[in-house]
Amino acid sequence: MRVLLTGAAGLVGRAAVDVLRQRHDVTVLDVRPVDGVPEALQVDVMDLAALMAAVEGHDAIVNTIMAPNPSYADGGPGFTVNVTGMYHMLEAARRTGVRRFVHTSSGAVHAGYPEGTRLTHDLYPLKAGGTYDLSKVLQENMAWNFHELHGLSVACVRPWGIIDADRRINTDGRPVQRVYYGTIDRVDVATALRAALEAPDIGFECFYIMATRRGYERTDTDYTEARLGWKPERWFEEEA
Ligand SMILES: NC(=O)c1ccc[n+]([C@@H]2O[C@H](COP(=O)([O-])OP(=O)(O)OC[C@H]3O[C@@H](n4cnc5c(N)ncnc54)[C@H](O)[C@@H]3O)[C@@H](O)[C@H]2O)c1
Repeated sequence: MRVLLTGAAGLVGRAAVDVLRQRHDVTVLDVRPVDGVPEALQVDVMDLAALMAAVEGHDAIVNTIMAPNPSYADGGPGFTVNVTGMYHMLEAARRTGVRRFVHTSSGAVHAGYPEGTRLTHDLYPLKAGGTYDLSKVLQENMAWNFHELHGLSVACVRPWGIIDADRRINTDGRPVQRVYYGTIDRVDVATALRAALEAPDIGFECFYIMATRRGYERTDTDYTEARLGWKPERWFEEEA
């Protein structure tokens, strides 16, 4: 497939460049330069016209964009980037005839449920905890609407604590303090995105992805395995 990968300079995005390129023709996009990919398009997703030009001619969009972590509090731009940016990607897909959208969502869409709730692909309503969570809820809601109204095929992949296991750092480049049940390696997130891209008959569907025993107990990642034929390569033991 001809795939536009957005957020490609990020923790997940940079891994997804390599994983998707094994099987697809990938255009790489980020607002900042992408390490090792000089031909990457440098586009701000808030610029709809520039984004439309980038999206044109692709079969699918795989989105891994996230506004930086400190930018959600106190009216910072993070919420707007996540929400309006997602709208722009969906709208650009609609206007240019892209039929397939794979979105990196998050377990944050269920953060408002009490501790101990089993989290599944079909647990609704989505419930946010904080501002970032709310942006992820709205992203999934928008994607569902584009599916309903315009027939866009949408797969939302829901990880939790993504790390670079080789370097044992998190998305902000800080050392991982503790491996917990939501910990997953960025390459496994990338392979899940690819599996969701390639899965047949996706209307609108969401998929938990976990890489620990308790993560599988707390969510229905076994459903993801069955539906997408995906499993994490790297498993983690929770640290006390
Ligand atoms: N990191 C985690 O622990 C975690 C957990 C669950 C879900 N997620 C989701 O996974 C996805 C990837 O997260 P990540 O950890 O790789 O984040 P990241 O911050 O490492 O990467 C995000 C990328 O988006 C790019 N970006 C930001 N604003 C942009 C804009 N306006 N236009 C174009 N590009 C822009 C950034 O430059 C960056 O390269 C996100 O959707 C995030 O919400 C992350």
